Amino acid sequence: MSVAVTPPALRSFHSGRSAGWPPRPRVVMSVRSSNTVSAAPILIKLQRDCATPLPVLRHVADAMAADMRAGLEVDGGSDLKMILSYVDALPTGNEKGLFYALDLGGTNFRVLRVQLGGKDERVVETEFEQVSIPQELMFGTSEELFDFIASGLEKFAQKEAGNFCLPKGRTRELGFTFSFPVKQTSIDSGILIKWTKGFAVSGTAGKDVVACLNEAMKRQGLNMRVSALVNDTVGTLAGARYWDDDVMVAVILGTGTNACYVERIDAIPKLHGPNSKSGRTIVNTEWGAFSNGLPLTEFDIEMDAESINPGEQIFEKTISGMYLGEIVRRVLLKMAEDARLFGDCDPEKLRMPFSLRTPDICAMQQDSSKDFEVVGSILHDVTGVSSDLIARKIVVDVCDTIAKRGGRLAGAGIVGILQKMEDDSRGLVFGKRTVVAMDGGLYEHYPQYRSYLQDAVTELLGPEISKNIVIEHSKDGSGIGAALLAATNSMYQH
Ligand code: BGC
Repeated sequence: MSVAVTPPALRSFHSGRSAGWPPRPRVVMSVRSSNTVSAAPILIKLQRDCATPLPVLRHVADAMAADMRAGLEVDGGSDLKMILSYVDALPTGNEKGLFYALDLGGTNFRVLRVQLGGKDERVVETEFEQVSIPQELMFGTSEELFDFIASGLEKFAQKEAGNFCLPKGRTRELGFTFSFPVKQTSIDSGILIKWTKGFAVSGTAGKDVVACLNEAMKRQGLNMRVSALVNDTVGTLAGARYWDDDVMVAVILGTGTNACYVERIDAIPKLHGPNSKSGRTIVNTEWGAFSNGLPLTEFDIEMDAESINPGEQIFEKTISGMYLGEIVRRVLLKMAEDARLFGDCDPEKLRMPFSLRTPDICAMQQDSSKDFEVVGSILHDVTGVSSDLIARKIVVDVCDTIAKRGGRLAGAGIVGILQKMEDDSRGLVFGKRTVVAMDGGLYEHYPQYRSYLQDAVTELLGPEISKNIVIEHSKDGSGIGAALLAATNSMYQH
C-alpha cells in the first residue's frame, strides 16, 4: 500500500489561531481499525485530480488576464464582471473628521467609527462592534435584514462619545462595505446582482442596496447618509493605500473570495462616462466567478450541483473558506462509505453538508503530535467517527490536498491580475515594488494555504520579479478603507 505523506515541514504546529478559529477540546476515544488499503486509491486519485503543476498555474494566470480584458471590453464579455467602483480618488492622508463604516459580507456585520486627524494625526481613534446575523435572516426578506442592520447601527451611533466629534448641524456619513456582486451606478448607489456565500435573502437582487439601507435607517430614525458604497476588496485597497502608495491590488480570501486593482481609464473600453481626473479607477473583478481551466474533481462537481447557486462562483467554490471544509467532508464520506476508512463506525454526522468547516481542516493540519491526537478529537467531535493512526494520516493528506490546490490557484489568480497590469504598463508593476493587500480569515489563519499561495506566485514569476511583489496582510483594512472613502466623497467637501 502506498500512502502519500505530507512533507514534515507542513505538519509543524502554528499557534496563530484567533477567536473565530477555536481549537477543539481533546477527548479520549477508542481506536477502530480502518480499511485504509482501499482508501489509498481514492486519495491518490484526489491528489492527481487536484494537481496544480506549473503549466496548470500558468494556464489559470493567462486565462484570468484574458477574462479580465474581455470583461473590460463589454459588460457580460466574460465570467469576470469587472465592475467599475466609481472610486477614482484614493485616500491621501489629508482626510479629517468623524466617519462611520458598515461592513456586511458574511455571517457577521461590523460597525465602526473613526476620527481622522489629517496628515499629522492620521487615525485619532477608532471603535467598532461586531454583530452576528441570525441564520434565519440570511433566508428572510430584504426589509428584515436591513432593519436588523440599521438597528445595530443606530445603537452603535448612540454610544458616540469621547474623542469622536461631529460638528454641529452635520449629518453623519457612512462608508458601506457590501461584499456581494453589485452593479455600481455611482459612488453611492449600486444594484445587487445576486447574493453569494450562502445568502438567499428575497427582494434585494435587482434593487439599490444603498436605498435599502437608507430606508431602513429612516425607519430607525437614524440621521446618517451613505457617502460611499464599496466592495470589501475596494475598502481593503483604500485602507492599505492610506499607509502605502505602492498598493495596487487587494484580495480577500475568507468565507468568499474576490480581488480588485487599480486600472487605467484608457484600458476600459466599456467605460463611456466622464473621465476620472486621476485617469485611474478601481475595478472590482468579482473573480469568484472565474472558471476557466480549473482542476476540478467529482467532489467539486457534486458540491456545486447541490449548492444554492449551481454553475456559479466556481473559483470561489474551489479556493475559499466557505467550501474547503465541505470538499474535504465529501472526500472523507466517500472514503468512509466505499473504503471503510473509519472501520465499522456509521459516518452519520459526516453526511451532514457543511458539518466539517474550514477551521476544522486547518486545525487538523496543525497537529504535530505523534499520534495525531487533535485530528482524532476533531474527527470524533465533529463527525462522530473513531479513527486509527493510518486513517488520521490519510485525513490530513486529504486536507492538505484541498488546501494546496486552493492556495496555489489563488496565487495563480493574483499573478494573472499582475500580469495584465504589467502588459499594459511595461515595468510599472514588475519593475518596482508592488503591494498586494490581502485580507480574510482563510489567509490569516491557515499557514499552509498561505505558503502554498506564496509558492505559486514565486514559481510563476521567478525569483527576481517575485522579490518586487509584496503580499501584505492588511487586517480589517476594509472598514477603515470604507470610512476613508466616505471622507473622500463627503458631501461637505464640495
Ligand atoms: C462576493 C464578493 C466579495 C467576496 C469576498 C464574494 O462572494 O461576490 O463581492 O468581495 O465574496 O467577501
